[in-house]
Amino acid sequence: MKKLFVQTYGCQMNLADSEEMAAHLFARGYTLTDNLDQADLALINTCTVRDHAEHRALSFLGRLRQWKRENPQRKIIFAGCAAQRLGEKLKKTFPFLDLVSGARDIDHFAQLLDDSGLFTAQPGAPVTAQTITGYVTIMRGCDFKCTYCIVPSVRGPIHCLPSADIVQRAAQKAAKGCPEIMLLGQTVNAWHEKGKTFADLLNEVSAQPGVQRVRFVSPHPAFITPAFLAAVENNPKIARHIHLPAQSGSTKVLQEMKRGYTREILLEKIAALKARGFAISTDLIVGFPTETENDFQQTLSLVEEAGFSAAYCFKYSPRQGTPAAQMTLLPEKTLEQRLDVLLNKVKGLAEAAYTQQIGSPVEVLMESANKGRTSDNFWVQTTRSYPVGTRVVSEVTAAEGTLLFTRD
Ligand code: 5AD
Ligand code: SF4
Repeated sequence: MKKLFVQTYGCQMNLADSEEMAAHLFARGYTLTDNLDQADLALINTCTVRDHAEHRALSFLGRLRQWKRENPQRKIIFAGCAAQRLGEKLKKTFPFLDLVSGARDIDHFAQLLDDSGLFTAQPGAPVTAQTITGYVTIMRGCDFKCTYCIVPSVRGPIHCLPSADIVQRAAQKAAKGCPEIMLLGQTVNAWHEKGKTFADLLNEVSAQPGVQRVRFVSPHPAFITPAFLAAVENNPKIARHIHLPAQSGSTKVLQEMKRGYTREILLEKIAALKARGFAISTDLIVGFPTETENDFQQTLSLVEEAGFSAAYCFKYSPRQGTPAAQMTLLPEKTLEQRLDVLLNKVKGLAEAAYTQQIGSPVEVLMESANKGRTSDNFWVQTTRSYPVGTRVVSEVTAAEGTLLFTRD
């Protein structure tokens, strides 16, 4: 059988898209390998959210020139957001590239493979490796217009998948041994359908036989609504962890970013989530073009006030065609200094959150014989061994770095 090597950059959505594309390639006679030297086909699924991410994907592609030279029968597919942004012109710079498939082409990927004439269908090929988490994409695209962000122009406006399809896919994944379902979308909680909200969807998905836990990524603070909070309160299967991108702690910068909330509103929503047992991680950007030293200080103080369990920090990266790219950049040195200070501030957050769990009761969903995760997303090592997918209720006796230990 021919071998497929997959290299994925970017978010969880890209991981799910890679899984979907790989499934179509399995149906065309490929099996996975994690060794590029043994592969006949390389699939690169790319991200363009920051220049750095795009650059990494392109330099990987550049390295494949030699890989293909060694065996001209080898094939390369360049897919995802950078592929969408750069399009067919990529083939001019990288003439050895066989197929370009933009992020918006994901629904037609099978057709694209067939139209290329490079692949032939071979029914009965294997499925992807099993994990306890089943990814289900529920919406694509974004209707927000954050001034720094390239996603709306690359992925397009929002398109919500029908709830009937989503629920069916979740049920299928659960039946195949995924007790945890992860709902995915660029602004996942913007999902809606006539007469149905995201909260309704969470309840419906979690009611499917075999579904023990439902996670979702990435939500926008605008849709942390009373209906959502009410659904959470009545439904313990909704995981008590949320990755809620704050981006900045300054109301002025948030307005210039067009995020649609103030620092105060964000802190209120965070307090409401924490009151319901949520651990909250976040994304923060430093060095947005209008960010003053005072604005930056407010991001630092937000980290303290919000009590995040983790924060991913990024230097502002101008993206072609976005409103913020027209603005004058701050000096690179300022960006670097601010990133440094912020990284120092968030460094101990995860460890501190882990330490705080000592003495608490936990419910662990096992992902391997001795390791699993709690609903609020802490990694736990159990004393005894359990079958994958078991729920273990115990008490935390110790924490070491980002690992908890239980009495069990
Ligand atoms: N520059 C820096 N960071 C960005 N992000 C999105 N666009 C940019 C940009 N132009 C960050 C945001 C987002 C995460 C996925 O990437 O924090 O939440
Ligand atoms: Fe980008 Fe804002 Fe949409 Fe998130 S909500 S994808 S940051 S435009």
